[in-house]
Amino acid sequence: MCGIIGYIGSRNAVPILINGLKRLEYRGYDSAGISFLKNNKIGVRRCAGKIKDLELYIKKEKIVSHVGIGHTRWATHGKPTESNAHPHRAGGIVVVHNGIIENYFELKEGMKKKGQVFTSDTDTEVICHLILTYTQKGYDLEKATKEALKHVEGAYAIGVMNEFEPDKILAVKNDSPLVLGLGKGEHFIASDIPAFLKYTRDVIILENGDMATLTTEGISIFNLKKSKTVKQKVEKISWTPTMAEKGGYKHFMLKEIFEQPRAIADTIRGRFSLEKGTVNLKEFSLRESMLKKLNKIFLVACGTSWHAAMVGKYIIEDMVRVPCEVDIASEFRYRQPIVPRGSLMIVITQSGETADTLAAQREAKRLGAKVLSICNVVGSTSAREADGVFYTHSGPEIGVASTKAFTTQLTALYLFSIALAKAKEKLGAKEIKALFHELLLLPEKVEKALQCDDAVKKIARKYHRAQDFLYLGRGINYPIALEGALKLKEISYIHAEGYPAGEMKHGPIALIDHNLPVLALAPDDNVLEKILSNMEEVKSRGGKLIAVAHEGSSKVRSRVSNVLSMPETNYYLTPIIFSIPLHLLAYYIAVLRKCNVDQPRNLAKSVTVE
Ligand code: G6P
Repeated sequence: MCGIIGYIGSRNAVPILINGLKRLEYRGYDSAGISFLKNNKIGVRRCAGKIKDLELYIKKEKIVSHVGIGHTRWATHGKPTESNAHPHRAGGIVVVHNGIIENYFELKEGMKKKGQVFTSDTDTEVICHLILTYTQKGYDLEKATKEALKHVEGAYAIGVMNEFEPDKILAVKNDSPLVLGLGKGEHFIASDIPAFLKYTRDVIILENGDMATLTTEGISIFNLKKSKTVKQKVEKISWTPTMAEKGGYKHFMLKEIFEQPRAIADTIRGRFSLEKGTVNLKEFSLRESMLKKLNKIFLVACGTSWHAAMVGKYIIEDMVRVPCEVDIASEFRYRQPIVPRGSLMIVITQSGETADTLAAQREAKRLGAKVLSICNVVGSTSAREADGVFYTHSGPEIGVASTKAFTTQLTALYLFSIALAKAKEKLGAKEIKALFHELLLLPEKVEKALQCDDAVKKIARKYHRAQDFLYLGRGINYPIALEGALKLKEISYIHAEGYPAGEMKHGPIALIDHNLPVLALAPDDNVLEKILSNMEEVKSRGGKLIAVAHEGSSKVRSRVSNVLSMPETNYYLTPIIFSIPLHLLAYYIAVLRKCNVDQPRNLAKSVTVE
């Protein structure tokens, strides 16, 4: 939550900051601001609203500056008003912050007693005042910040400028993401790489405790926890700037839905050998001997990634017969879980920065489990703290509603399950080959599934005024019913529920009347007959039935007029194919309802606070 950007160099910082904030807007978008140095004075411009409002607000001034910091906010402490927007200022100190200062109240009360005047309701403002206290004692910015942060508890990534040391930006990371970009005679700080991808692909991913000083000449990093200067590890990022652009699509979400064949192909490329029948475990820092001994798996995640975790349980238990427990990360971390020694936790996280997921991952490690992170962002906290990482190569996902990250997570789980089945000798070479074969066909099948686009648009036109929606699924596609409902409610604000179809009689059937659209996932699998009965129950109560079924499924077609046809795959891959029409349906309904698809109200892509 919240996005930070900073620039120092020879170009005008202002458009770079604005452009960077636009790239970070998915992290929060209720207010924004920048500060910059001009004629040896720091200027701050902030407003409630989105980056385009900030852009409009500063347009007339034509500000030119060579150093500045900016912020896009997702409110935690204090309403999304101009006065609570970042940067915050005390004297010559300005600060942008992502995270939560847990002891801010006590700090603030103490400072107020000493006569310091606060102008916002935020937790961040205490950082400015603390740093100012020390610069007033004659400390330079680094020393003042170091002393100030000794008082602060919580998670933070901050960018700091001091009017009296005009040629530097300071950046500190503690539990909230922060990366640096290295250009020629120019340097960047940002919460996420796409913010400066247009200018450089050379990146330093800061570690906890790192305090970086950026000038036009270079970067130096001192680790506050280790009390020493640390060596910089520069990584070259393979993402290209166009990957973080809309590429002609109206919204990032739609672009990302249509990118799935490429994203899945990239996620499987080089990850297994069809000839040898093996998954390349080394790349994920996994060993077959370790998998062989594995008797228990925990799958933990939040949001859409949690739906992937649920599918993971169906795949692993069916294919390998290793018991799995699935948890929402915020539940796992507080429920005193029983984690037998030698268990594996698979954390699933697009961003690798979700606060609850990180806490759950740390808790599992503390209890002696090994952690495998299925993650999309290279160098993210989850990836760095895990024992092994399976990177989904879906490219940057900007739309708040996750789509391609989700289907690549499912792809990763499929490959992991095959590796586990091989290690545990649950599958023979022939069966493994068949599973790989099906995987190789997947990008093409996803491409085919995307051809339902027009049919989905028609259904969206029919039902976009609905007040409620019900999604039904069974077995491995029950989590897809949950995913369909989540997507619809988060981007179109229609109340929607996902249910295991067998549970319908225990409650939701009472909701069915001629106004309620009910979408049933009805693949040709072992529970098709069961869901067909559930569909009859909906029909006989006047519900408006929509079905997603395999092409050629006459049993479904004879019962329902609204059928979305999907290509055949094996059982384990149906959730990938069947999620496609559901993501599209949520998208088109949201567009028809004139909702802000890429930035739904109250949400943020990366939930870095609890
Ligand atoms: C937020 C996003 C979701 C995402 C969830 C988990 O709620 O809006 O799209 O699924 O966080 O994020 P992660 O990065 O951990 O997968």
